[in-house]
Amino acid sequence: MQANTQTNIHEDWRGGYESLLQEYDYWIDEIEGEVPRELHGTLFRNGPGLFEINGQPIHHPFDGDGMVCAITFDNGRVHFRNRFVRTEGFLAEQQAGRILYRGVFGTQRSGGWLNNMLDLSLKNIANTNVVYWGEKLLALWEAGKPHRLDPATLETLGADDMGGILSPGPEFAAHPHVDPDVNGSPHLVSFGVHPGLSTVITLYEFDQSGDLLKRHAYRIPGFAFVHDYALTPEHCIFFQNPVDYNPLPYLAGWCAAGQCLKLRRNAPTNILLLPRDPDGPVETVSFQMASIFIFHHANAFVQGEEEIVVDSVCYDDFPVIEPDQDFREIEFSSYPPGRLWRFTINRRTKQVDAQIIESRSCEFPAIHPSHEGRPYRYVFLIGAEQTEGNAPHQAIIKRDLAEGTSHLWSAAPRGFVGEPIFVPRSEQEDDGWVLTLVYDAEHHRSDVVILDGRDLTKGPLARLHLKHHVPYGLHGSFVPQVFGERKA
Ligand code: CO
Repeated sequence: MQANTQTNIHEDWRGGYESLLQEYDYWIDEIEGEVPRELHGTLFRNGPGLFEINGQPIHHPFDGDGMVCAITFDNGRVHFRNRFVRTEGFLAEQQAGRILYRGVFGTQRSGGWLNNMLDLSLKNIANTNVVYWGEKLLALWEAGKPHRLDPATLETLGADDMGGILSPGPEFAAHPHVDPDVNGSPHLVSFGVHPGLSTVITLYEFDQSGDLLKRHAYRIPGFAFVHDYALTPEHCIFFQNPVDYNPLPYLAGWCAAGQCLKLRRNAPTNILLLPRDPDGPVETVSFQMASIFIFHHANAFVQGEEEIVVDSVCYDDFPVIEPDQDFREIEFSSYPPGRLWRFTINRRTKQVDAQIIESRSCEFPAIHPSHEGRPYRYVFLIGAEQTEGNAPHQAIIKRDLAEGTSHLWSAAPRGFVGEPIFVPRSEQEDDGWVLTLVYDAEHHRSDVVILDGRDLTKGPLARLHLKHHVPYGLHGSFVPQVFGERKA
């Protein structure tokens, strides 16, 4: 292999942001290594699939229409399928052949600011996550309703209001967490955020059959931009970073809603401990974070009588792609890297201890599902090949939190990794498979990569070559079920 220079890396990386227009169904037949027969079930993953409408580019990859992939593992064979989520907006734009909606992160309708002024209709693009719960497959996008899909065919069945419970707003976050053990059974715990001058955060808790057990709305002073939360048996924990929202440029049509977010330096972050028991008290701990913005939390757990530990990927700034920038041309070095921090929150003294526990640029933390909300030792993340600064993510990192060590598998020089998903083989915490999609720039195609969670350094157990690339995705989930018939 030859070394890959910075310019080449950027060019290679960009290839993963081409649209995937075709929808496929096939058994994967180009396989290096061997697919473990015990690995049985379906990996669903979601992400933007379309980066232009009839030649008109969208401004930010987060604004791209959702495309769900189902990768089915069945007795050593693996099947691939992808479908766009046929939201109302997707269908309307495909029919019109042009961009009809403004995107949250910067996509504007043509015609400049006059044509965008006071146009607040957003397209639900259903592109952020996909979960299977209560026999429903749901494509999630945090500013609107979930879209229900057929798990066997990925056909879009329509927007879903979760049995009529999505009130007061239609928002349903893209980051549900599964508490593995509430009196012996798992619960899906999720939230919705309705931001404003004060913000309403609604918690939802569902039993295994998808029935709503609890719903409780909390009104929080101030604006909040919240993408994810951390779960413990008693709390849903939100970090309200000091983000200000100035909607005037957005209302005037100059920029998108996501471009009006500004961090307030030297202002405290509020850590909100919202009780899962609606009768419990809300606790708030304010502290000055050094690294001030969070998309994702790795995990949280209770420590002793007074403390809660939260591990989160933090940034020094909120990464905005300005109206005159192209996201494919961004300078990685001008954006701050995400790094993994540990926050130890003392509920009695209201003190917070903050430590960096992984300084390499990283994102998309994943853990053994039985340890969700519980003490844990291992976290898997995507990470940069280089140890300092920001760069495209080319490696899967395993961090041992007990030993304070990391090891990794890297797809460099020409591979770029997506979110790792940990599929447990046993209750031993790292005994399982780490699944990820890797964009291979050399062949302009993607690979499904299966790593052994116990030791990433030995390289993939299997590397399955798809016939095409899959654009960089956001989140997904694995379920042990195999759905329906699959034909070649
Ligand atoms: Co996310």
